Amino acid sequence: MAALGLFFALAPAPLGAQDEAPEDLPAGKGRDEAFYGCTACHGFAIIRQQGLSRERWDTTIQDMQVRHNMPEPDAADRELMLEYLATQFPPRQRGRPNPFLNR
Ligand code: HEC
Repeated sequence: MAALGLFFALAPAPLGAQDEAPEDLPAGKGRDEAFYGCTACHGFAIIRQQGLSRERWDTTIQDMQVRHNMPEPDAADRELMLEYLATQFPPRQRGRPNPFLNR
């Protein structure tokens, strides 16, 4: 049974990725690279719910390689993915600006 457990551990089921297409994401340079590179293992929802700086996106890609065995993308594709993630999903402003504090 240990072997069966290992099989499932090594073959993560794509979570909700089946219904998604690149066109569901905001248009932008690198969209296809990010979509196809990042949805092999999980849906894009887990990605678009984040708002991260370019630096944190960079570490996230690294994390996927180190922690989850993501194959290393070639340098040009990686740059495009990073560009797309950093441009489309930047850190969100927390809360609304308070107009009464801006005088
Ligand atoms: C080889 C498989 C694989 C690929 C490819 C992959 N991921 Fe992941 N990712 C995972 C796994 C496994 C998890 C954690 C478990 C889960 O909830 O699905 C995860 C979780 C995440 C999370 C949630 C926070 C965290 O760190 O756990 C983010 C954000 C994320 N991935 C972003 C990305 C981005 C961006 C890409 C493309 C550059 C990508 N992933 C490609 C396997 C992968």
